[in-house]
Amino acid sequence: MGRIRSLSAKAHPHSELVEIVDTIAEHARSLAAEAGCQAGNDWQKMIEREDVDAVVVATPHKHLAPITTAALKAGKHVFCEKPMGRNLEEAEVVLATLREQARTPNSAEGPKVQIGYTLRHHPAIQRAWQMVQTGDIGTPFFIRGRYGHGARPNYDKEWRTNPEESGGGEFLDQGVHLVDLSRCFFGHFSEVMGLAECFHWARESSMVEDNAFLLMRTPDRRIASLHASWTQWKNLFSFEIFGEKGAAIVQGLGGSYGTEKLLFVRRLNVGAPEVEEVVYPSGGLAHLDEVWAVEWGSGMQLSTQGLSATALKAGDHSRIIDTVEGMPAAKAGIGPGMKVIAVNGKRMSKHTFRDALQVTKSSNVPLELLIENTDYYTTYKLDYHEGEKYPHLVRDESKPDVLSEIIKAK
Ligand SMILES: NC(=O)c1ccc[n+]([C@@H]2O[C@H](COP(=O)([O-])OP(=O)(O)OC[C@H]3O[C@@H](n4cnc5c(N)ncnc54)[C@H](O)[C@@H]3O)[C@@H](O)[C@H]2O)c1
Repeated sequence: MGRIRSLSAKAHPHSELVEIVDTIAEHARSLAAEAGCQAGNDWQKMIEREDVDAVVVATPHKHLAPITTAALKAGKHVFCEKPMGRNLEEAEVVLATLREQARTPNSAEGPKVQIGYTLRHHPAIQRAWQMVQTGDIGTPFFIRGRYGHGARPNYDKEWRTNPEESGGGEFLDQGVHLVDLSRCFFGHFSEVMGLAECFHWARESSMVEDNAFLLMRTPDRRIASLHASWTQWKNLFSFEIFGEKGAAIVQGLGGSYGTEKLLFVRRLNVGAPEVEEVVYPSGGLAHLDEVWAVEWGSGMQLSTQGLSATALKAGDHSRIIDTVEGMPAAKAGIGPGMKVIAVNGKRMSKHTFRDALQVTKSSNVPLELLIENTDYYTTYKLDYHEGEKYPHLVRDESKPDVLSEIIKAK
């Protein structure tokens, strides 16, 4: 992944690659030669460099959290590969460091972390997400996700099957992508049950799972059924969301996972459903290169926009703490003390806010914020205009109070 991330950074107009660090000198040297930057073997020195603004951490899982935490403390933005650490405790340390940084006087410009959940950036996933948001498949019922490959000879000798290095097997490898996507689509899951088994890739001294099966349920009884496998001998990616009116089915990811496709299944009252197929045809590796580039671009946006894309910061109970002067939220008249009540027709929570932002950033669907002030509610619409660095938050004159249809007026 280090190679992929380096080449994305090199190719992006707003990033410049400074140094590649690897404990194996030859890895750093050959990649640095390809990417046209310096090579090093000491990440501690690298994160102290003044000409470094952001660090990519793409190591075995054991080192993800320690390097990310140290880089954050040195004031650098971090693009950290999934799964962020070997376990919850390690991930919590990263989050605690982020919270500490957010309390510093300069928190608006404080470092940000992005985790390499690449699947979010695939076009068929993005399209499926929009379809769910716009109600095309009706009330969503369940997700069925499958992701797997067959590994390669001697996989049982690689760091991925060494629990000390990896923290776990296929669940932490590919399973986390399925969990992340499920959370993007359905939000918070309150019940989780699972089974993990090692069918084939056992090493002599220890064992991690090569197959993981997971069932998760949200408080409003939507279910995700997920399976990640290192014994899926032919590579597979399938992510299906079924709802009352139909289904959005994503198949393939390009490359060895097959052409990426989205099937929109529309349930009819009588007879077989209609199926509309969208193929993302660039196919092969070029397709994946595009996805990596989009993902890198999204990280660049995150780290240059201070208080998130809306340029507002909300605290307890979604009360606005701060807006950035001259930026869209402040310009539109949103200010400290006001409260965000709803986002895109859903009650405000960090999940609905994050999810709505993601749609807005990747499409033309605007972000609608219902804001409560002392004695009135007002709807603001956040829109992105092509070619501009920041979104414009403007009062939506045409639909002044659209969200109050679902939330009682004060
Ligand atoms: N986003 C995705 O879709 C995706 C895909 C594959 C892998 N990953 C993630 O990327 C990370 C790396 O996986 P990979 O497949 O590239 O592994 P890899 O084994 O191919 O590469 C890891 C590199 O890190 C180097 N390294 C080890 N310890 C180091 C240290 N302390 N400091 C500096 N360098 C060190 C190794 O020498 C090696 O060159 C993992 O977290 C993995 O889960 C993400």
